[in-house]
Amino acid sequence: MHSFDVAIVGAGAAGLFCAGVAGQLGLKVLLLDHSEQVAEKIRISGGGRCNFTNRDLDPRAPHRHYLGENPNFCRSALSRYTPSDFVALVRRHGIPFHEKHKGQLFGDRSADDFIQMLLRECGAGGVTRWQPCAVQAVRAVESEASRYALDTDRGAVQARNLVIATGGLSIPKIGATDFGYRIARQFGLRLVPTRPALVPLTFAGASWAPYAALAGLSLPVTIATGEKKQRVEFHEDLLFTHRGLSGPAVLQISSFWHAGQPIRIDLAPGVNLPGELARAKAGSRKLIANELAAWLPARLAEAWVQQDPAWQRPVAEASDKALAALAERLARWSLVPEGTEGYRKAEVTAGGVDTRDLSSQTLESARPGLFFIGEVVDVTGWLGGYNFQWAWASAMACAQAMAAAGP
Ligand code: FDA
Repeated sequence: MHSFDVAIVGAGAAGLFCAGVAGQLGLKVLLLDHSEQVAEKIRISGGGRCNFTNRDLDPRAPHRHYLGENPNFCRSALSRYTPSDFVALVRRHGIPFHEKHKGQLFGDRSADDFIQMLLRECGAGGVTRWQPCAVQAVRAVESEASRYALDTDRGAVQARNLVIATGGLSIPKIGATDFGYRIARQFGLRLVPTRPALVPLTFAGASWAPYAALAGLSLPVTIATGEKKQRVEFHEDLLFTHRGLSGPAVLQISSFWHAGQPIRIDLAPGVNLPGELARAKAGSRKLIANELAAWLPARLAEAWVQQDPAWQRPVAEASDKALAALAERLARWSLVPEGTEGYRKAEVTAGGVDTRDLSSQTLESARPGLFFIGEVVDVTGWLGGYNFQWAWASAMACAQAMAAAGP
């Protein structure tokens, strides 16, 4: 029988960070993962460079960048471990990084820098790491020293604290499972239904046919969904794909989109299209498509005018009504997605362990000694480093709470 102060299941972003901190705070830590490699999602994150946090995060207003049944739940952990704290750690390890747009911080070299940093932190904390190692069963035990017993590939384990850091359901081919949700259910915790988020949207074959040829084309847009108080809007790049739409604009809006709802896209944000087209009509001999190419990618302009014969002519010969309809449709392209690309392509999973059953201070569940951290919790960040910051902050809150309670 192996005995530890803490057993952490899941050696991803949250699990690795929690293990290193808890170990350095004096706890005897076991970190195990069923995958051969650690932190596969860090490896593929940010296009291989890892967008590890975001400077724009305001911990006093977490609802601005996080969603979930209670978007304020993450306030406590995020304000006690901020992006600057993580940046300080990255600097201590000498990892070069840079800011892209909207506060997003990326490594200059490769995501592996961050994995090696987390492994060094685990080393400094004397963490025992078992990989690959699956957990067959978890039980509560009644003993002062140990509250949880685990049956694993490497034998029986007892631990005073059990931390579930198994993440969400996205990208099953690199090790995502529903383990965390099963453990939550086993111990009587509530779950918020899960759904893929930060995910490309798909459209029905026939309705998408006119746009399928635009696959690969990207342009800046304004995108919105929801009505009145529920309305959300992003200004980001849109990417056409063979089956639908992707790119940062669509990934962001997908987290807020509900089946059957339309999304609305302004394909020429900031351009006064009615005014520009009226001006062109008065003085230009060009085709409408050629005029549009001043504000849109030429391929999109060409495909767009194919939708109406009234748009396939010189702008000087077009009716005012046709030009008004064209401007309106470009500024308010409304379309109802058929669905999403699912967990296979989603960057994160929305929903998860219900925050009503967790302490926002410590991430401990209603069940003493049982903690949930990272993406398995019903806290979902925007695109742009917010999900990793939640992983770091929730891991820190949990590690500090376990250390404060003593070995
Ligand atoms: P994470 O998924 O990192 O780790 C879970 C671990 O648990 C894995 O190692 C897994 O093998 C293990 N596990 C699962 N089931 C198990 C079981 N039954 N037994 C044992 N172990 C088990 N975020 C961001 O902020 N910036 C970015 O740049 C990106 N980029 C990005 C790109 C892509 C392609 C994806 C898919 C995701 C992102 N993300 C991101 C999201 C980010 O990767 C994600 O939110 C965090 O990795 C979540 O950290 P966790 O530690 O909670 O789970």
